[in-house]
Amino acid sequence: MTALIEVKNLCVDYITLNGRVRAVNNVSFTIEEGEILGLAGESGCGKSTIAFALMRLHRPPALISGGEILFNGENILDFDEESLRKFRWKDTSMVFQSAMSCLNPVKTIEYQFYDIFKAHGAVASRQESIVKARELLNIVDIPEERLFDYPHQFSGGMRQRVVIAMALALKPKLLIMDEPTTALDVVIQREILQKVYQLKQQFNFAVLFITHDLSLMVEFCDRIGIMYSGQLVEVAESKAILTQPQHPYTFGLGNAFPTLTGELKAMTGIPGMPLDLSNIPSGCRFAERCFKASELCRQTEPALHYQPERGWAACHQVLPVTARTGQDIPTEDVY
Ligand SMILES: Nc1ncnc2c1ncn2[C@@H]1O[C@H](COP(=O)(O)OP(=O)(O)O)[C@@H](O)[C@H]1O
Ligand SMILES: [Mg+2]
Repeated sequence: MTALIEVKNLCVDYITLNGRVRAVNNVSFTIEEGEILGLAGESGCGKSTIAFALMRLHRPPALISGGEILFNGENILDFDEESLRKFRWKDTSMVFQSAMSCLNPVKTIEYQFYDIFKAHGAVASRQESIVKARELLNIVDIPEERLFDYPHQFSGGMRQRVVIAMALALKPKLLIMDEPTTALDVVIQREILQKVYQLKQQFNFAVLFITHDLSLMVEFCDRIGIMYSGQLVEVAESKAILTQPQHPYTFGLGNAFPTLTGELKAMTGIPGMPLDLSNIPSGCRFAERCFKASELCRQTEPALHYQPERGWAACHQVLPVTARTGQDIPTEDVY
């Protein structure tokens, strides 16, 4: 089976006055048709940079400096402007954190749907656009008579659902959601994600879901990739990420959130700060903050290795399966 998206050795740099910073370093992953892949990691680890690269929406000072992004086998990094125009919305679309920033405040929702359809030659008339837009509002549970309202007339949660309806307007194969609900309260967040999940079952698009909320992610994703300092350090089935993490960083992230079962447990952060990307040490990037770090970790950068039933991890000191249950390492003491 070929993947819908295959990212191979992607590198993205930012060219700043202080020099070149590599925000995404040698990242490879796939997204299968209809799959929900999560990307998690602390702020600044490169998640949004990957999302923008996948849509080729990155702008200077960002520069894709290496790798390939294959969409159905075609490298979108080779696309010309015309192919890109068709690719965006139709093949892949994106929902950002702030719905307000991608809706035009002075145009009705109806006009903004029409704009999308018209730009892609998807409707023959305004009337056809209105019919389609009404259907799309219906699928995200917004009364269709709201079509002629302006963005400010909707609540934050409704606005985000309008944006999701727009993102799905041309039936894309991949929906990228970059912290889509971060600005909303938790109940509304979950409702929106449940809706997206339902729509995904119906239309079979794949989702790249970015958030720093690991518990929300575990509930919603098939697989999760964990990023640290511009690199993927672990990729596994989402349950395994929480219950049997291989990488000490993944383990630490799991401790920073309440468990799904609601079991009361001290939530502890990971000590130390993310790396300064302009000053990368040799060896493993996480070594300085890692309770398992050895001399080897400080000297040699670990590559991603696959472990059956557990997935991929880039770590010299992979944790035992029982790490989370506390048999082998004292969870509360180390983090
Ligand atoms: N406009 C920019 N100019 C320079 N560096 C940037 C810019 N945007 C992001 N970066 C760098 O890229 C890194 C990754 O950023 P980003 O992809 O936004 O992370 P995330 O979405 O995981 O929070 C940041 O730590 C920062 O060093
Ligand atoms: Mg981001």
